[in-house]
Amino acid sequence: MTRSSSSPVAATRRIGLSLGADLCWPRCFEGILRRWNPTLRVGGEDLRFEVERVTIEPFDLRGSVKYDVVLDRLTHWYANTREWIKKAVLMDDLYVLNNPWAVQSMEKQTSYCAMMRLGMPIPETWLIPPKEYDVTPDLQPTLERYARFFDLETLGETVGYPHFMKPYDGGGWVGVSKVDDAAALRDAYDESGKFVMHLQSGVLPHDHFVRCIGIGPDVRIVEYDPSAPLHERYTRDHGHLSPQALSTLRKITLTINAFFGWDFNSCECLHQEGVWYPIDFANPCPDSQVTSLHAHFPWLVLGNLRWALFNAATKRKKPHNLDWSPYFEIADGQGSFAEKLDQYAAISEERMATAAFEEFCDEHLGPLEEVAWEYFGSSDAREAVREKVVALFPDHEVEEFTERFWQSIQEWRLETAQSPTRNPLPDRGSLR
Ligand SMILES: Nc1ncnc2c1ncn2[C@@H]1O[C@H](COP(=O)(O)OP(=O)(O)O)[C@@H](O)[C@H]1O
Ligand SMILES: [Mg+2]
Repeated sequence: MTRSSSSPVAATRRIGLSLGADLCWPRCFEGILRRWNPTLRVGGEDLRFEVERVTIEPFDLRGSVKYDVVLDRLTHWYANTREWIKKAVLMDDLYVLNNPWAVQSMEKQTSYCAMMRLGMPIPETWLIPPKEYDVTPDLQPTLERYARFFDLETLGETVGYPHFMKPYDGGGWVGVSKVDDAAALRDAYDESGKFVMHLQSGVLPHDHFVRCIGIGPDVRIVEYDPSAPLHERYTRDHGHLSPQALSTLRKITLTINAFFGWDFNSCECLHQEGVWYPIDFANPCPDSQVTSLHAHFPWLVLGNLRWALFNAATKRKKPHNLDWSPYFEIADGQGSFAEKLDQYAAISEERMATAAFEEFCDEHLGPLEEVAWEYFGSSDAREAVREKVVALFPDHEVEEFTERFWQSIQEWRLETAQSPTRNPLPDRGSLR
């Protein structure tokens, strides 16, 4: 239920945005909430919502935290904020997107191992010791005693060609190379320096490359073209796969996200001969900029709003620990991978509170969709796009690219104008 005017006895729920270089989506997030300015009656209480940017300053470890929910995009690289968030979860029951311990310690290698254990078809992957080291006092004796010579060429043949050499904790395509033969493997290893690298069997050729962006129980599956310029890599192809494929990808994404306590994350999967291979799914600070997401950007802003409002309004408790045992019990049991994936997905939907979230959205968030639709036609939204373009593009391209991204948002508005209701599962992406 939504009330248009504020009630004098309404309680306030506070949402904090913990941000770095983000410009466009937080401005839209705030702009939409300001326009809507709802009072929601939830659990017998009238609730108002405030959104604020989390600042960086000294803090008392026993000091209280004023937020109910924090949407955080700094933990993976900025220690001060990460430690403030960990303190706030431990001491103040803060609901934070994402679990900061999981972001800090579950890098690509861990995510591969965990999902291999669950039986996901992760391509064959080896980890190799680094080519070079920072010299430390214990380095020499350690390597002399324990490092074994290995034959890179034999390993290359074991993994097969072509394969990919990439950092075990990678991100953003840094240090990734496609390796076609033994000579290329030697060169790639020589260049890898101090990185600890994986060799991963190539899923080539593939007929689909998708990015599945999950925000809580919302998953949007978008075809991705890594050969396109940065601003066109997310293609317009979305929701075009068969219902069965969309359902499988949703289950894979939710399983990964629920397993690691990641409220938002993106999962890259390649499709070859009837199998979806997840290859990169430890991205718990997914790309959220209009300059990459273009027509998918309004969905992302709405997804963040819906999930933040739901958790703030219901004061839902985020599980403090990652409990992996139920997944492993299924993994170690009988049945095909498809059957197990169904069971993982059932746990994951439960952990993501899909049913309660759906109900909350249906009951309370109808007007949000309307307000957002109007907002994305406003001068404030256009300014948000422009701000991001100014930050990333050279002066002479600012007008052209602002217009281009703005038009793609207007196309989203045209498409969604026809369908004022939210789409049902399994691909809950095309929401308006
Ligand atoms: N096993 C693989 N098979 C085919 N292509 C791959 C594979 N691993 C990586 N790639 C290609 O390399 C890119 C970067 O690798 P990825 O694991 O996604 O690293 P990052 O974390 O840097 O994004 C992928 O988007 C894909 O184009
Ligand atoms: Mg990637």
